[in-house]
Amino acid sequence: MSRQNLLPRTAPFGDGERASLDAVLGAASPTQRAWLAGFLAGLDAAGGQPAAVPAAPPKAAAPLTVIYASESGNSEALAGTVAKLARKQGFKPKVVDFADLDVATLPKAGKLVAIAATWGEGEPPARGVRAYGELMGEGAPRLDGVEFAVLALGDTSYAEFCAIGKALDARFEALGGKRAAERADLDLDFEKPAADWIKATLKALAPAEAADNVVAVDFARVAAGEDDEAEPSREPLVVEVVEHVNLNSSRSDKETIHLALAFEDGAPAYEPGDSLELFPENDPQLVDEILTAAGLSGDAALRNALLAERDITTLSAATIERFVKATGHTDAQRLIESGEAKAWIEGRHLIDLIATFPATLTAEHLTAITRPLPPRAYSIASSRKEVGDEVHLAIVAVRYETHGRARSGVASVHVADRIRDGAKLRVRLKPNRHFRLPQDPATDIIMVGPGTGVAPFRAFVQERRAIEAPGRSWLFFGDRHFLHDFLYQLEWQEALEDRSLTQIDVAFSRDQPEKVYVQDRITHHARELVSWLDGGAHFYVCGDAKNMAKDVRNAVVKAYETAKGLSPAKAEAQVAALERSHRYQQDVY
Ligand SMILES: Cc1cc2nc3c(=O)[nH]c(=O)nc-3n(C[C@H](O)[C@H](O)[C@H](O)COP(=O)(O)OP(=O)(O)OC[C@H]3O[C@@H](n4cnc5c(N)ncnc54)[C@H](O)[C@@H]3O)c2cc1C
Ligand SMILES: Cc1cc2nc3c(=O)[nH]c(=O)nc-3n(C[C@H](O)[C@H](O)[C@H](O)COP(=O)(O)O)c2cc1C
Repeated sequence: MSRQNLLPRTAPFGDGERASLDAVLGAASPTQRAWLAGFLAGLDAAGGQPAAVPAAPPKAAAPLTVIYASESGNSEALAGTVAKLARKQGFKPKVVDFADLDVATLPKAGKLVAIAATWGEGEPPARGVRAYGELMGEGAPRLDGVEFAVLALGDTSYAEFCAIGKALDARFEALGGKRAAERADLDLDFEKPAADWIKATLKALAPAEAADNVVAVDFARVAAGEDDEAEPSREPLVVEVVEHVNLNSSRSDKETIHLALAFEDGAPAYEPGDSLELFPENDPQLVDEILTAAGLSGDAALRNALLAERDITTLSAATIERFVKATGHTDAQRLIESGEAKAWIEGRHLIDLIATFPATLTAEHLTAITRPLPPRAYSIASSRKEVGDEVHLAIVAVRYETHGRARSGVASVHVADRIRDGAKLRVRLKPNRHFRLPQDPATDIIMVGPGTGVAPFRAFVQERRAIEAPGRSWLFFGDRHFLHDFLYQLEWQEALEDRSLTQIDVAFSRDQPEKVYVQDRITHHARELVSWLDGGAHFYVCGDAKNMAKDVRNAVVKAYETAKGLSPAKAEAQVAALERSHRYQQDVY
């Protein structure tokens, strides 16, 4: 086809316009013409406004598998971001939760991004345990030909920082995969470095001919209005404390604060099962102690920053390394070089480091040594259907002693000691779509929540009361003493009376010589529990991750053995099936 007659004379253009278009189009490659056709179609769909800066699309969308192992949703949200950006760059992304991952499909992934959080003490998130075990096990498939990249999320305050991401990265390589981008190990302030990593990784994974693309527009999505999905704001909201009550008796050795928070412009649209992140302030006494030890007592601006913005308690290997870099302290350096740092850190905080290795610091040093102060999550203990524009929380004060010093949990003791009615707090909603009431209100629910683990179940019961759910509900609660630690006791009694709670079983561990826990109550009621589960009940666990959640799971497995005479393996398979069908959900910490 010659340049002159590319456009027919019948085309709705003047002679001059036709000649100009012929000059451009006649020289264009098939890819450029295809692109222009798509661009013009998209322009119309978007009301005549270019919706994004288009570039030549890759020849065919390259498949990309994004797998994530997440407990509290951070890795899951980042997996969504990877998919969204990848789609814009001409990939065809598929996002898979480790909970649903069929490991046998990975060899066909071609290009693989894994985002994994670490939980417990170096463990995978609960929903990821099965797939992670399969990947690490002998039966894992070879990944020859798979290009992979791993993003690890963690918290430097844990000894096993980003252990799961690190292990996956090594495993993919050992199975024959080709590392397309270096792993990043990110701390709690991961948002910016994660965005940078995603951008660089997608570039590294892009097919050669598409690597230089700026953005390729998926016109179908533009037309459907899906391209510019509004992200919920991550900015904290200011709330007022309208109720501050200690739920334990004055004779208890625990202190659990019930907080009611009022939102001036309406509470965010939270659901039972969600958490609220609270931005705490540090203990002013500790701030002053650190400033004095560092020789910086007179610096008011630094004092304010240390109060509200910097993490002045967490001590990690990275903190010591930054301290050595800033001060050149040789004794502290020896601690790292001798390999003793990991053990020394145990139970110690930043103040111990500065007090043990005295050094004159500048404000810049202190800022460089510390990380941003992370918010703390608290399960929402209320339903909007019952409390309107409020959010209720139950926060237990963390106090203990290590290395001869009294220690206070930053957020919990801030709330317990320095917050009262009328105070303002900064908070942010943290949704959790993996801890949800059943869709059908006629479904029975079993809730296991010792200590503050009971908080979300107060929300569940309030919600089911408000919607007059016909399903039965059964609560297992536990704490130390019946008389002093029965959190929300009167409310449970009322709920039993109005039938929003069908039954409650309690375990007060220190009221008798031998300790009794919620898992013992489950064992005691094995047959009834299994009959509820056989009838379709959903099972929920909230609270301590270290021991309780594992003990409860073991008790449910044992309950199947007892009630149905199953072998341990078959009973385990029953619980695993509950997990896979999202009928066994947990929110543990
Ligand atoms: C999804 C989710 C929901 C949560 N819901 C709730 C809730 O409803 N109610 C609630 O109270 N908490 C809840 N938490 C826990 C909460 O987020 C905080 O971790 C907790 O309040 C402690 O924070 P803090 O700032 O007071 O203590 P921090 O300053 O963070 O100190 C806690 C750390 O101190 C150390 N420590 C604690 N006790 C000891 C000890 N005896 N010996 C040695 N070291 C110790 C541990 O390293 C621990 O991690 C939840 C957590 C998550 C992730
Ligand atoms: C109870 C608990 C245990 C944790 N254990 C570890 C750990 O051992 N190592 C680590 O690096 N991070 C640990 N973390 C931090 C999480 O990995 C981090 O918060 C991550 O951003 C969570 O991602 P997710 O929301 O995708 O689950 C822990 C967090 C909590 C609340």
